[in-house]
Amino acid sequence: MARITAGVTTSHVPAIGAAFDRGDDQSDYWAPLFAGYEWSKKWIAAERPDVIVLVYNDHATAFSLECIPTFAIGCADEFPVADEGFGPRPVPNVMGHSELACHIAQSLILDEFDMTIMNQMEVDHGLTVPLSLMFGRVDAWPVRVVPIAVNVVQYPPPTGERCFKLGQAIRRAVQSFDEDLNVQVWGTGGMSHQLQGPRAGLINQPFDQAFLEKMNTDPSSLRAITHLEYVREAGSEGIELVMWLIMRGALHANCQELHRFYHVPASNTAVGHLILESPQDDGS
Ligand code: DHB
Ligand code: FE
Repeated sequence: MARITAGVTTSHVPAIGAAFDRGDDQSDYWAPLFAGYEWSKKWIAAERPDVIVLVYNDHATAFSLECIPTFAIGCADEFPVADEGFGPRPVPNVMGHSELACHIAQSLILDEFDMTIMNQMEVDHGLTVPLSLMFGRVDAWPVRVVPIAVNVVQYPPPTGERCFKLGQAIRRAVQSFDEDLNVQVWGTGGMSHQLQGPRAGLINQPFDQAFLEKMNTDPSSLRAITHLEYVREAGSEGIELVMWLIMRGALHANCQELHRFYHVPASNTAVGHLILESPQDDGS
Protein backbone atom coordinates (compact mmCIF):
# COMPACT_ATOMS: atom_id res chain seq x y z
CA MET A 1 0.00 0.00 0.00
CA ALA A 2 1.04 3.62 -0.40
CA ARG A 3 2.46 5.21 2.77
CA ILE A 4 2.62 8.84 3.90
CA THR A 5 6.09 9.05 5.39
CA ALA A 6 6.60 12.76 6.01
CA GLY A 7 5.23 16.25 5.63
CA VAL A 8 6.98 19.40 4.52
CA THR A 9 5.79 22.98 4.86
CA THR A 10 7.44 25.97 3.29
CA SER A 11 6.66 29.49 2.17
CA HIS A 12 6.59 29.90 -1.61
CA VAL A 13 7.57 33.56 -2.15
CA PRO A 14 7.94 34.26 -5.92
CA ALA A 15 11.05 36.44 -5.33
CA ILE A 16 12.81 33.32 -3.99
CA GLY A 17 12.20 31.65 -7.35
CA ALA A 18 13.44 34.73 -9.22
CA ALA A 19 16.63 34.90 -7.07
CA PHE A 20 17.23 31.19 -7.62
CA ASP A 21 16.66 31.41 -11.38
CA ARG A 22 19.10 34.29 -11.87
CA GLY A 23 21.75 32.57 -9.72
CA ASP A 24 21.52 35.17 -6.94
CA ASP A 25 21.06 32.64 -4.15
CA GLN A 26 24.46 33.36 -2.55
CA SER A 27 24.06 37.14 -2.34
CA ASP A 28 24.04 38.80 1.10
CA TYR A 29 20.27 39.10 1.04
CA TRP A 30 19.41 35.57 -0.12
CA ALA A 31 22.20 33.30 1.20
CA PRO A 32 20.75 33.06 4.77
CA LEU A 33 17.38 32.05 3.32
CA PHE A 34 18.75 29.31 1.07
CA ALA A 35 20.99 28.06 3.91
CA GLY A 36 17.82 27.09 5.79
CA TYR A 37 17.10 24.47 3.11
CA GLU A 38 20.53 22.83 2.94
CA TRP A 39 19.66 20.14 5.49
CA SER A 40 16.30 19.59 3.77
CA LYS A 41 17.92 19.00 0.38
CA LYS A 42 20.20 16.31 1.83
CA TRP A 43 17.30 14.76 3.72
CA ILE A 44 15.03 14.50 0.69
CA ALA A 45 17.84 13.13 -1.50
CA ALA A 46 18.10 10.25 1.00
CA GLU A 47 14.33 9.84 1.43
CA ARG A 48 13.66 9.59 -2.31
CA PRO A 49 9.85 9.97 -2.16
CA ASP A 50 7.96 8.57 -5.16
CA VAL A 51 5.14 11.09 -5.05
CA ILE A 52 4.41 14.42 -3.38
CA VAL A 53 0.82 15.43 -2.75
CA LEU A 54 1.60 19.13 -3.04
CA VAL A 55 -0.96 21.44 -1.45
CA TYR A 56 -0.58 25.04 -2.59
CA ASN A 57 -2.64 27.95 -3.78
CA ASP A 58 -2.97 29.21 -7.29
CA HIS A 59 -2.42 33.00 -7.48
CA ALA A 60 -5.00 33.85 -10.18
CA THR A 61 -2.79 31.97 -12.68
CA ALA A 62 -4.58 28.76 -13.66
CA PHE A 63 -7.86 30.14 -12.31
CA SER A 64 -8.89 33.65 -13.28
CA LEU A 65 -11.37 35.52 -11.12
CA GLU A 66 -14.09 34.12 -13.41
CA CYS A 67 -13.95 30.68 -11.82
CA ILE A 68 -12.37 29.81 -8.47
CA PRO A 69 -12.66 26.28 -7.11
CA THR A 70 -12.26 25.95 -3.35
CA PHE A 71 -10.34 22.66 -3.69
CA ALA A 72 -8.95 21.34 -7.01
CA ILE A 73 -6.87 18.23 -7.72
CA GLY A 74 -4.56 17.84 -10.70
CA CYS A 75 -5.14 14.48 -12.39
CA ALA A 76 -3.04 15.09 -15.52
CA ASP A 77 0.21 13.32 -16.46
CA GLU A 78 2.08 16.61 -16.77
CA PHE A 79 1.65 20.18 -15.56
CA PRO A 80 3.31 22.99 -17.55
CA VAL A 81 5.05 25.82 -15.68
CA ALA A 82 2.89 28.95 -15.90
CA ASP A 83 3.92 32.33 -17.28
CA GLU A 84 3.17 34.71 -14.39
CA GLY A 85 4.12 37.81 -16.33
CA PHE A 86 7.88 37.42 -16.89
CA GLY A 87 7.82 34.18 -18.91
CA PRO A 88 7.62 30.71 -17.37
CA ARG A 89 10.31 29.95 -14.75
CA PRO A 90 13.21 28.01 -16.37
CA VAL A 91 12.42 24.84 -14.44
CA PRO A 92 11.20 21.46 -15.72
CA ASN A 93 7.54 20.73 -16.22
CA VAL A 94 5.98 18.91 -13.29
CA MET A 95 5.12 15.25 -13.89
CA GLY A 96 1.88 14.04 -12.35
CA HIS A 97 0.77 10.64 -11.11
CA SER A 98 -2.57 10.31 -12.85
CA GLU A 99 -3.50 6.94 -11.37
CA LEU A 100 -2.89 7.99 -7.77
CA ALA A 101 -4.50 11.41 -8.35
CA CYS A 102 -7.67 9.82 -9.80
CA HIS A 103 -7.78 7.43 -6.86
CA ILE A 104 -7.42 10.32 -4.39
CA ALA A 105 -10.10 12.32 -6.25
CA GLN A 106 -12.52 9.39 -6.08
CA SER A 107 -11.77 8.70 -2.43
CA LEU A 108 -12.13 12.38 -1.43
CA ILE A 109 -15.37 12.87 -3.33
CA LEU A 110 -16.91 9.70 -1.88
CA ASP A 111 -15.66 11.02 1.49
CA GLU A 112 -17.81 14.14 0.80
CA PHE A 113 -15.08 16.59 -0.24
CA ASP A 114 -16.31 18.11 -3.50
CA MET A 115 -13.04 18.39 -5.41
CA THR A 116 -12.74 20.07 -8.79
CA ILE A 117 -10.94 17.68 -11.15
CA MET A 118 -8.24 19.33 -13.27
CA ASN A 119 -7.20 17.27 -16.31
CA GLN A 120 -5.14 20.19 -17.58
CA MET A 121 -3.52 22.85 -15.40
CA GLU A 122 -0.54 25.18 -15.39
CA VAL A 123 1.25 25.51 -12.06
CA ASP A 124 2.60 28.74 -10.59
CA HIS A 125 5.18 29.79 -7.97
CA GLY A 126 3.03 28.35 -5.18
CA LEU A 127 4.07 24.90 -6.42
CA THR A 128 7.37 25.40 -8.28
CA VAL A 129 9.26 27.53 -5.72
CA PRO A 130 8.99 24.84 -3.00
CA LEU A 131 10.26 22.25 -5.52
CA SER A 132 13.30 24.43 -6.26
CA LEU A 133 13.99 24.98 -2.55
CA MET A 134 13.86 21.25 -1.81
CA PHE A 135 15.49 19.79 -4.94
CA GLY A 136 17.71 22.62 -6.17
CA ARG A 137 18.69 22.88 -9.85
CA VAL A 138 17.66 19.78 -11.79
CA ASP A 139 17.03 18.74 -15.40
CA ALA A 140 13.93 16.81 -14.34
CA TRP A 141 12.15 16.79 -10.97
CA PRO A 142 13.08 13.49 -9.25
CA VAL A 143 9.52 12.93 -8.05
CA ARG A 144 5.97 12.88 -9.32
CA VAL A 145 3.47 15.39 -8.00
CA VAL A 146 -0.26 15.36 -7.29
CA PRO A 147 -1.14 19.07 -7.07
CA ILE A 148 -3.98 20.14 -4.80
CA ALA A 149 -4.92 23.81 -5.21
CA VAL A 150 -6.80 25.66 -2.47
CA ASN A 151 -8.59 28.97 -2.86
CA VAL A 152 -7.11 31.60 -0.58
CA VAL A 153 -7.33 34.35 -3.20
CA GLN A 154 -10.97 35.37 -2.91
CA TYR A 155 -13.06 35.31 0.25
CA PRO A 156 -14.34 33.06 1.62
CA PRO A 157 -11.46 30.57 1.66
CA PRO A 158 -12.05 27.25 3.44
CA THR A 159 -11.64 27.24 7.21
CA GLY A 160 -8.56 25.79 8.88
CA GLU A 161 -10.78 23.13 10.41
CA ARG A 162 -12.09 22.09 6.98
CA CYS A 163 -8.53 22.02 5.66
CA PHE A 164 -7.35 19.78 8.50
CA LYS A 165 -10.22 17.38 7.80
CA LEU A 166 -9.33 17.38 4.09
CA GLY A 167 -5.82 16.36 5.13
CA GLN A 168 -7.24 13.46 7.15
CA ALA A 169 -9.25 12.41 4.09
CA ILE A 170 -6.12 12.61 1.92
CA ARG A 171 -4.45 10.24 4.42
CA ARG A 172 -7.30 7.74 4.04
CA ALA A 173 -7.13 8.09 0.26
CA VAL A 174 -3.37 7.54 -0.02
CA GLN A 175 -3.38 4.64 2.42
CA SER A 176 -6.01 2.84 0.34
CA PHE A 177 -3.98 3.02 -2.90
CA ASP A 178 -2.79 -0.45 -3.74
CA GLU A 179 0.80 0.23 -4.76
CA ASP A 180 3.90 0.47 -2.62
CA LEU A 181 4.65 4.19 -2.86
CA ASN A 182 6.59 6.50 -0.57
CA VAL A 183 4.35 9.57 -0.45
CA GLN A 184 5.02 12.92 1.17
CA VAL A 185 2.44 15.66 1.71
CA TRP A 186 3.58 19.27 1.42
CA GLY A 187 1.76 22.44 2.43
CA THR A 188 3.07 25.68 0.96
CA GLY A 189 2.45 29.37 1.62
CA GLY A 190 2.59 31.61 4.67
CA MET A 191 3.78 32.64 7.09
CA SER A 192 2.64 36.11 8.15
CA HIS A 193 2.55 38.57 5.26
CA GLN A 194 0.38 41.28 3.82
CA LEU A 195 0.98 42.53 0.29
CA GLN A 196 -1.53 45.38 0.13
CA GLY A 197 -3.28 48.23 1.92
CA PRO A 198 -2.21 50.28 4.94
CA ARG A 199 -0.74 47.24 6.74
CA ALA A 200 1.37 46.10 3.74
CA GLY A 201 4.63 44.60 5.03
CA LEU A 202 3.09 43.24 8.23
CA ILE A 203 5.08 40.42 9.82
CA ASN A 204 4.16 38.93 13.22
CA GLN A 205 7.07 36.86 14.51
CA PRO A 206 5.49 35.75 17.83
CA PHE A 207 2.41 34.47 15.96
CA ASP A 208 4.58 32.61 13.42
CA GLN A 209 6.84 31.07 16.06
CA ALA A 210 3.84 29.82 18.03
CA PHE A 211 2.32 28.40 14.83
CA LEU A 212 5.55 26.56 13.98
CA GLU A 213 5.72 25.07 17.47
CA LYS A 214 2.07 24.00 17.53
CA MET A 215 2.18 22.36 14.10
CA ASN A 216 3.76 19.38 15.79
CA THR A 217 2.79 19.65 19.43
CA ASP A 218 -0.72 21.12 19.43
CA PRO A 219 -2.32 21.12 15.96
CA SER A 220 -5.83 21.02 17.45
CA SER A 221 -5.41 24.62 18.66
CA LEU A 222 -4.41 25.69 15.13
CA ARG A 223 -7.56 24.13 13.69
CA ALA A 224 -9.63 26.64 15.65
CA ILE A 225 -7.98 29.80 14.24
CA THR A 226 -10.66 31.85 12.46
CA HIS A 227 -10.32 33.86 9.25
CA LEU A 228 -10.54 37.05 11.29
CA GLU A 229 -7.62 35.97 13.48
CA TYR A 230 -5.50 35.07 10.44
CA VAL A 231 -6.07 38.50 8.93
CA ARG A 232 -5.54 40.36 12.20
CA GLU A 233 -2.48 38.40 13.38
CA ALA A 234 -0.82 37.17 10.17
CA GLY A 235 -1.96 39.76 7.59
CA SER A 236 -4.24 39.31 4.60
CA GLU A 237 -1.96 36.74 2.91
CA GLY A 238 -1.28 34.88 6.17
CA ILE A 239 -4.44 32.91 5.33
CA GLU A 240 -2.11 30.77 3.17
CA LEU A 241 -1.29 28.96 6.43
CA VAL A 242 -4.52 26.95 6.14
CA MET A 243 -2.67 24.86 3.55
CA TRP A 244 -0.18 23.82 6.23
CA LEU A 245 -3.13 22.37 8.14
CA ILE A 246 -4.02 20.12 5.20
CA MET A 247 -0.48 18.73 5.37
CA ARG A 248 -0.75 18.27 9.15
CA GLY A 249 -4.11 16.52 8.90
CA ALA A 250 -2.59 14.03 6.45
CA LEU A 251 0.10 12.95 8.93
CA HIS A 252 0.05 10.66 11.96
CA ALA A 253 -1.24 12.32 15.14
CA ASN A 254 2.21 11.91 16.75
CA CYS A 255 4.96 13.12 14.45
CA GLN A 256 8.60 13.83 15.00
CA GLU A 257 9.91 17.25 14.02
CA LEU A 258 13.08 16.76 11.98
CA HIS A 259 13.80 20.31 10.86
CA ARG A 260 12.57 23.82 11.54
CA PHE A 261 13.61 27.08 9.90
CA TYR A 262 12.31 30.63 10.26
CA HIS A 263 13.69 33.65 8.42
CA VAL A 264 12.54 37.27 8.18
CA PRO A 265 12.07 38.75 5.70
CA ALA A 266 12.08 37.32 2.20
CA SER A 267 10.41 39.92 0.02
CA ASN A 268 7.37 40.86 2.13
CA THR A 269 7.07 37.51 3.84
CA ALA A 270 8.13 35.71 6.99
CA VAL A 271 9.51 32.42 5.68
CA GLY A 272 8.76 29.29 7.68
CA HIS A 273 9.78 25.73 6.90
CA LEU A 274 9.11 22.47 8.75
CA ILE A 275 9.79 18.80 8.12
CA LEU A 276 7.71 16.34 10.15
CA GLU A 277 8.29 12.60 10.04
CA SER A 278 5.12 10.55 10.20
CA PRO A 279 5.34 7.10 11.88
CA GLN A 280 3.99 4.06 10.10
CA ASP A 281 1.73 2.54 12.76
CA ASP A 282 -1.98 3.14 12.36
CA GLY A 283 -2.19 6.60 13.93
CA SER A 284 -5.40 8.53 13.65
C1 DHB B 1 4.90 37.32 -1.83
C2 DHB B 1 4.57 36.20 -1.09
C3 DHB B 1 3.65 35.27 -1.56
O1 DHB B 1 3.25 34.17 -0.87
C4 DHB B 1 3.09 35.46 -2.80
O2 DHB B 1 2.27 34.50 -3.25
C5 DHB B 1 3.39 36.59 -3.55
C6 DHB B 1 4.32 37.52 -3.06
C7 DHB B 1 5.90 38.32 -1.34
O3 DHB B 1 6.27 38.27 -0.16
O4 DHB B 1 6.35 39.15 -2.13
FE1 FE C 1 1.43 33.11 -2.03
